[in-house]
Amino acid sequence: MNWWQQGVFYQIYPRSFQDSNGDGIGDLQGLIQRLDYLNDGTEQSLGIDAIWLSPFFPSPMHDFGYDISDYCAIDPQFGSMDDFDELLQQAHQRQIRIILDLVVNHTSDQHPWFQQSCDPDSDKADWYIWHNGKQPPNNWLGCFGGRGWTFNAQRQAWYYHSFLPQQPDLNWRNPAVKQAVKQVMEFWLAKGVDGFRLDVVNLYYKDAQLRNNPTDWFRLARPYDRQRHIYDRDQPEMHSLLHEMRHWIDAWPERMMVGEVMLADAGNSDLPASYYGQNDELHLAFNFEFLRAPFKASAFHAIIRKWTELLGSENWPNYTLSNHDFCRHASRYQAGKHTQARLEILAALLLTLRGTPFLYYGEETGMPEQNVKRGDLQDPVGIRYWPLHPGRDGCRRPMMWDAPLNTFSQGQSWLPDEAIPAHSVAQQQQNPHCLLSWYKKLIWLRKKTPALHQGKLRLLQASADVLAYERSGINAGRSERLLILLNFSNRTQSTSLHPQALASCLLNNKKKDQKNAAPETLHFHGGRLQLQPLQALVLQLQDDYPLKMYV
Ligand code: NOJ
Repeated sequence: MNWWQQGVFYQIYPRSFQDSNGDGIGDLQGLIQRLDYLNDGTEQSLGIDAIWLSPFFPSPMHDFGYDISDYCAIDPQFGSMDDFDELLQQAHQRQIRIILDLVVNHTSDQHPWFQQSCDPDSDKADWYIWHNGKQPPNNWLGCFGGRGWTFNAQRQAWYYHSFLPQQPDLNWRNPAVKQAVKQVMEFWLAKGVDGFRLDVVNLYYKDAQLRNNPTDWFRLARPYDRQRHIYDRDQPEMHSLLHEMRHWIDAWPERMMVGEVMLADAGNSDLPASYYGQNDELHLAFNFEFLRAPFKASAFHAIIRKWTELLGSENWPNYTLSNHDFCRHASRYQAGKHTQARLEILAALLLTLRGTPFLYYGEETGMPEQNVKRGDLQDPVGIRYWPLHPGRDGCRRPMMWDAPLNTFSQGQSWLPDEAIPAHSVAQQQQNPHCLLSWYKKLIWLRKKTPALHQGKLRLLQASADVLAYERSGINAGRSERLLILLNFSNRTQSTSLHPQALASCLLNNKKKDQKNAAPETLHFHGGRLQLQPLQALVLQLQDDYPLKMYV
């Protein structure tokens, strides 16, 4: 089993994690200062195994770093290459791996490759998708609004961009582009980075004939979402490219790639699974289904079942509740006084499933979405679509280390800072009953328990209210069976579980300070386990007890 299967990932948006020089923008030195919080080898720390770092490369920041003008350098806002080398070394010393964001569907229009490509006689003339003519060649649109083609006055031609006009798409049909990206990857691999997150990996290839996408005119949606994106993404050539990239990366021991597969339609979850290939394309392709699930046991059950079936035994699952493009789940699932218990249920789910968990910085303290005033908006999506879509600044808010005075920065934070005491690390570190300590318990239990980080999964039960599954594996030569019970409802739920089935209670969100408690600490009625409202339990089962669970 590989480290990227067993470990817990933690996504950091560098701009918002820790500022070390008072300019209000998080940086690499700041992150180094916080590494011990992430994992100092003891259960006092969060215990994560790997960091996915969102982009910190030189960029004009039209799309906050997802528009890169130099792939092999560090934007001075975030520090220097020496800082990066130090970060990598310090992280590795703590057994924390680091993967980088590889954004190679497009570059910035300030990238020298594009600048040269604007000259039709340059050797990079064919590195982007150009079209000569009075009109754009087809109806393709930009994902952030407007048309997908922009006229370049110097070259007197149109170029295509899946996102902003400042983000021209590379021409992956040109072998020189492939080689250039390979060199970028090798630059970082040689430094020792542990892998890459591939931005919008299913967009690299476009239809060779540049055909029009069909439009569903009657669909009530913005123009981009009215199109069926059959020609501007998901072209068959992508699979052989990923196959090739897998060879490149597998030449370096213990490295990995996780891809972001952009979905045209919510609910098209078969698509990410297809980019695993026969375990010979991406190591992992993000499953974003939890980002859209209602707070119902049956909904999560259906997603897990489908994803498990799609991947089969060959490919390894992954799960994620929040990232830098979606409303934070603390806000999506907020329910007044029940919010914390709901977040506990979801953390227990994420960290006891079979598959790699990806956490998003700040979710461990229940950081909610920031309500950003219109005048403070910075994300191009928010600026264009407010109030229909408030944009993504809110989920990229500064980490709440302390509050109300946040040590995130000694200066004026890039986003007006509204740190909330109850969600600050400082306050939660004092309180064994808070969400942060629940995350720590779950992560460290996962680490110590093979049944959790590599074992089998058997889905047992889902009503609208209760999700139940068994995880099993071998621990120190002995078989181990765990039962996870998650009551998604605000009511007590009676289960068929008999006290004799249980060896011990490993974790219980209603009694967070109890470790390895006897089964008697739970509520039984008439020989049936009673789940309290929004209770999450990780139970150890008796070895040979035949488990038939129903609620
Ligand atoms: C996907 C990234 O996750 C998002 O943040 C970015 O805006 C687009 N790709 C464009 O690079």
